[in-house]
Amino acid sequence: MIEAVWGWPPPVLDPAGPYSAQVTTLSWALFALGVFVTGVVVVALWVAIKGPPNWKANLGGERAIWIGGVAFPGVVLTALLIWGLTLTASLTEPIRGDEMRIRVTGEMWWFRVEYLDPDGAVMMVDANEIHIPVDTPVVLELESADVIHSFWVPHLSGKKDMIPGRRTLLRIEADRAGEFGGVCAEYCGGQHALMGFIAVVHEPAAWQSWLADRMDTLANAAEPVAQESQRYPGDADLYPTEAEYLERYDARRGYDLFMETGCAACHRIAGSEANGLAGPDLTHIASRRSLGAGILPNHRGTLIGWIGDSQSIKPGNRMPSYDRLSAEDLGHIAAFLELQK
Ligand code: CUA
Repeated sequence: MIEAVWGWPPPVLDPAGPYSAQVTTLSWALFALGVFVTGVVVVALWVAIKGPPNWKANLGGERAIWIGGVAFPGVVLTALLIWGLTLTASLTEPIRGDEMRIRVTGEMWWFRVEYLDPDGAVMMVDANEIHIPVDTPVVLELESADVIHSFWVPHLSGKKDMIPGRRTLLRIEADRAGEFGGVCAEYCGGQHALMGFIAVVHEPAAWQSWLADRMDTLANAAEPVAQESQRYPGDADLYPTEAEYLERYDARRGYDLFMETGCAACHRIAGSEANGLAGPDLTHIASRRSLGAGILPNHRGTLIGWIGDSQSIKPGNRMPSYDRLSAEDLGHIAAFLELQK
């Protein structure tokens, strides 16, 4: 079994922002109303079966039918419809000129993420992770590359389908910094249950530096391999010593293998010759929290495991298992990818 990360599935009815709070309020109102109606029906059943004769007569009377069968449901359902449509409209209203825009495309089974400038041009590409600043509404342009998916980060907003050939909009907003899990919420094939993402919400200053860092990486991406900047934090226990790892695995050799093996046919790394568009962009893969669209924590061991045998981890996904590569070669490739921050 694969251990899920980032609170999987993310809890609903636990809002971390105004849009989600509105959805939560509506959900509780529906639940309370459902409880009330159930109670009324149970009482009416009791009256109909064993109630006093004059109560029974009233229950079958014209007045009870007009009030309970027509007026009450008519008024309540209309009110709920208006409430729901108004809320949906506020989440999906057309883009205002100055809003922050991110395009998210559902693909079997991961999320392509593209940060857009105000004119809609792509500034930066990522996958399975969405970074936003706190207290800022962000409009997501949702699309699909294949089948119907659904974008849902319950802490931050409602749920919205991603439909092939169509662009749908959804606003998200967070009122506190943190990392919030998201899921695909529409059955989309065998690995639907393993199609997740993480929304990372930054404080304003941290957001600015994150963004500057990213743009800086892109500006200076011409040399993807920088041996001296190798760092492998946090998981030294996977190998005897860090020094041994560095001695044993060579990022330059990893880059050559990445190109020779065909990785670059599907994956892009800005500034390198890897220019494939079919799979997730790997320009910043080392900075991501997860691998395989939210299903594995991202570190050296899982990276090697994913490249070598992704079909066992997520059967049917479009990346083949590179089990013909030796452990040594997988280590070289991981060493190269660990530099792509
Ligand atoms: Cu994508 Cu379910």
